Amino acid sequence: MTTAAPFNTASPEQAAPAGIALTLQHHLKEQARFCDRLETMADLLPDAVDARDCLLMAQNVVPLIKRAHDFEEGTVYPLLLSLPDTSTELKSTIERLRYEHLGDEEFAGDLCVSLRQFVTDRGSSNVESLAWMLRGFFESVRRHIAFEREHILPLVQRHSS
Ligand SMILES: [Fe+2]
Repeated sequence: MTTAAPFNTASPEQAAPAGIALTLQHHLKEQARFCDRLETMADLLPDAVDARDCLLMAQNVVPLIKRAHDFEEGTVYPLLLSLPDTSTELKSTIERLRYEHLGDEEFAGDLCVSLRQFVTDRGSSNVESLAWMLRGFFESVRRHIAFEREHILPLVQRHSS
């Protein structure tokens, strides 16, 4: 049975006031931890999943992802795009990351619905499909944040203080 540890509901600015790079790092870590929890849940399906934990995940998946994306799109990407030496390659990379955000946000919304349905209407919930959704979602988010940790974070660290 999983434990329902509270999520950090503070705004990113409150959680990491020391700069853009630190806030970005905070969001990347928060998303990675969330993915770990989703993976644990996928492993525990169907009978060992804690209902309260499942509802908590459903409640948090969209806001957590949105918060990270809003910070990147409102602060991180504009910072990188404003640099005088921004390459065409970086511009198209940022464009691709924005598209990935859209896909993951839509996916997060669908996952929220399926997680709720699993708890509130188990009879009509398709467990195999939920397991597939969970894995598809956290694998996609993990790929995205791994790329940002490797390529975007170092750029931000170089250009913010
Ligand atoms: Fe991102």
